[in-house]
Amino acid sequence: MPTVRYLPAGQVVRVEPGISVLDAALDAGIGLYHTCGGNASCSTCRVIVREGQAQLSVMEAVEAQVLDAFDLRPPYRLACQALVLGGDIVVEIPGRERAPRPNKTPPLPEGAV
Ligand code: FES
Repeated sequence: MPTVRYLPAGQVVRVEPGISVLDAALDAGIGLYHTCGGNASCSTCRVIVREGQAQLSVMEAVEAQVLDAFDLRPPYRLACQALVLGGDIVVEIPGRERAPRPNKTPPLPEGAV
């Protein structure tokens, strides 16, 4: 079973292959911002991949576009889009001077999709 180690605290989480780096963190109670709810539109879930880049899913165009909008390049990844394929991974949750703005987008009406 692969593991993800989250720096700087160093928590190690055993994960099922196919889970996102974000979901693995949240399942383990590790705080990781995810303002857009994991929809690849806010970049607040950004992490720096320190080890195991090849053990993550290939970056899709939507993720690359979001990172590019914030002038971020690999080793940055969006934790909500990077899926653990196998092997062990080390990611760093970058520090922030302040919390990101809250998502002020109103929720969709019931039944709308
Ligand atoms: S949670 Fe918003 S981009 Fe990942």
